[in-house]
Amino acid sequence: MKFLSMQKYVFSVLLFLLVIPFAINAEEKMSRTPFGKTKQGGSVEKITLTNNQGVKAEFITRGATFCAMHVPDKDGKMADVLLGFDNIAGYESDGNQYFGNTTGRVCNRIAKGQFTLDGKTYQLYLNDSPNHLHGGNGNSLDKVLWKADEVAVENGVAVKFTYHSPDGEENYPGNLLIQVTYTLTNKNEVRIEYHATTDQNTPVNLTNHAYFNLAGAGSDTVLGHELTLNADHYTPCDDTLIPTGEIATVKGTPLDFTAAHTVGDRIDQLTETSALGYDHNFVINRKGKGIVQAARLRDPQSGRVLTVYTDQPGIQLYSGNFLKGQKGKGGKAYAYRSALCLETQHHPNSVNQPNFPSIILRPGQEYRNVCIYAFSVE
Ligand code: GAL
Repeated sequence: MKFLSMQKYVFSVLLFLLVIPFAINAEEKMSRTPFGKTKQGGSVEKITLTNNQGVKAEFITRGATFCAMHVPDKDGKMADVLLGFDNIAGYESDGNQYFGNTTGRVCNRIAKGQFTLDGKTYQLYLNDSPNHLHGGNGNSLDKVLWKADEVAVENGVAVKFTYHSPDGEENYPGNLLIQVTYTLTNKNEVRIEYHATTDQNTPVNLTNHAYFNLAGAGSDTVLGHELTLNADHYTPCDDTLIPTGEIATVKGTPLDFTAAHTVGDRIDQLTETSALGYDHNFVINRKGKGIVQAARLRDPQSGRVLTVYTDQPGIQLYSGNFLKGQKGKGGKAYAYRSALCLETQHHPNSVNQPNFPSIILRPGQEYRNVCIYAFSVE
């Protein structure tokens, strides 16, 4: 009897030692499932990346869109912290204010939709009168269908989206071949790498337009989230949100997030301005090129933290001032200021602003841009 229970004990210990590593390490994998058809009949796919922590990031091929991010809070409870929709009709509706998508060819605004390059003036679509916004109308990068392929990476799982934007699409010059690779690492980071080449000189400024609420998408507000920005300066704008060209200090303004402040602390001072809240582009502090921390967002209640890293010169902080209660995933309403965007990018209207870093891509050059959204708890 004694011998038997000893045997049982040894057996249980062995079983425990064998099973535990698998229980902790989920299988890293990419899966693809149909996500319905667009109004024009195009088939959309959903791609789910799962890392060895069991954390999941989801994407759809329309707009190479980052549509869900399921991360634990300080007690290990999972929530999806990204705004989005359950079906393609939602993404095609006017409730979709660029949720999680790849934004371009030139994100943010181009004054009066015009720029002159190599002596030729281009007129783009004015979808944010009197300006051009986020790449234009029907064929901006957020609305087109991208091809998705799994790519092998170490310490994570990755999907590469590819799109060939033909010469003249949305009136931009040049055939632009674009790749957006999302890697979900085993450290719960989503690394977004952009790559593009062209056959004619053309402006390129790509970003991701993810809306975050670290308490879970559909929670009331982000005004209690604490934000730090690695930015001593920002780019002041005119009444139509076109930068004046000035690089101004944030000191003494509600834009000073060099030390942590809640988003709601001083936002009322901006509600009556043309930005309607936070809708500002910051100049990221950096010495030379390379990836630096741009932002840190923390929800004190859940303990979830988002840290943003990039090699780009700017970051747009947008506090969801146009959210209007549209129904998103699981029927949850996305209320005014219930999510915010931290969009790493070149400064708005750079194509017309000689004192901002250039966004012109030339044949033979490679456009590269990295943004990392790292999730943790504190
Ligand atoms: C932001 C932009 C806002 C608004 C929003 C989309 O990137 O800064 O002004 O256009 O996108 O609703």
